[in-house]
Amino acid sequence: MNEGAAPAGIYVHLPYCRSRCGYCSFVVTTDPSSRTAYLQALDTEAALEAEEASGATFDSLYFGGGTPSLIPPADLARLSNRLRALFDFESGSEITMEANPDDVSGDLARLWSEAGINRVSLGVQSFADRELSAVGRRHDAASARRALSALLDAGLSVSGDLILGLPEQTEESFRASARELAASGVGHVSVYLLETEKSKIIEEDRALRPERYLSDDAQADLWLELGEILARAGLHHYEISNWARSGARARHNEKYWRRVPTLGLGVSAHELWSGRRRANVSGLPAYLDALAAGRRPTALDRPIDAAEEARERIVLGLRLTDGVPEAEIEDWISAEGDSRLAADYAGWREAGWLLSSPGRVRFSERGFLVSNEILCRFV
Ligand SMILES: C[S@@+](CC[C@H](N)C(=O)[O-])C[C@H]1O[C@@H](n2cnc3c(N)ncnc32)[C@H](O)[C@@H]1O
Ligand code: SF4
Repeated sequence: MNEGAAPAGIYVHLPYCRSRCGYCSFVVTTDPSSRTAYLQALDTEAALEAEEASGATFDSLYFGGGTPSLIPPADLARLSNRLRALFDFESGSEITMEANPDDVSGDLARLWSEAGINRVSLGVQSFADRELSAVGRRHDAASARRALSALLDAGLSVSGDLILGLPEQTEESFRASARELAASGVGHVSVYLLETEKSKIIEEDRALRPERYLSDDAQADLWLELGEILARAGLHHYEISNWARSGARARHNEKYWRRVPTLGLGVSAHELWSGRRRANVSGLPAYLDALAAGRRPTALDRPIDAAEEARERIVLGLRLTDGVPEAEIEDWISAEGDSRLAADYAGWREAGWLLSSPGRVRFSERGFLVSNEILCRFV
């Protein structure tokens, strides 16, 4: 299927969490009672997908959530072995699992490693206890520190997530979190701006108690400073929200930005396969019912035409610091025949938000701050 092309990836959504964090809008459940049925449904879905993926090779597997670290390690090992038996994974494939700090111990880190997991993405979010409790995180900074050490001691490749814009966050506390994570030994860091609009609780709180939140301008300045802190620690910016030491980029996630095919298993999972974008249903009962009846749990399945593919290449590719070929953007703008877009494109370059390197266009660091407004013009 993908002979001669880059190896593909597989995402598996594991929606179980101990409790729901105040800001989260992912498809999750805090009721563990369906877990056995869910793992069975994943087996069935994997077998259906494997028929379609025969001939394809894979080099990344990503267990995301939800909280994959809540799944018993024996079940994770069985699932990972089943996927590696059904799909043709290259040796040395990247196998990532998302983990919450309160789940991690030295023994578990060893069991995950024995199950073939070689990379863990840890939801640190902040090293300030006030901020963690303000959004209902179950862990404190001390347990994030212990988790990072346990994962690194087990020889796993580790990425840490931080959030900028948490309630109670100050400029100094954010700088301290960034410095501490950069110095912790991780090879990869993801920093997300708190998406308040995805959570009613946070949005209402911000309207009622704005003094608990950094202003948008303060967040923008801090984001620019973050890049400098991470660069000084040897972490290179390669995607709008991601920094890595050399050789430690997230292989699986890069496939999304470069439009390399990925399959998606589990409730709400998305995929790009054979020129089609597909998404599974986002309700757990509907997902389980479909697979119990041997049906695919598809909610959306549509072909991507050439114009949409060109648009996706620009919008996704510009998230990367290597940007996109200049010709792709210019062809798009002239095909659109939109003179306002052409004039704005020239203006974005003049303002220094978009930069040209030979034959390519990319966002500057300041440009990333306004990238949402610019990217939504490519529709
Ligand atoms: C799918 S979550 C799962 C990770 C894991 N369950 C945890 O909470 O640590 C992956 C990451 O998305 C980020 N995230 C989740 N909700 C967010 C929001 N509303 N705004 C910004 N980042 C968010 C967090 O940094 C989180 O670590
Ligand atoms: S633990 Fe992670 S996935 Fe679960 S509710 Fe919290 S942020 Fe969302």
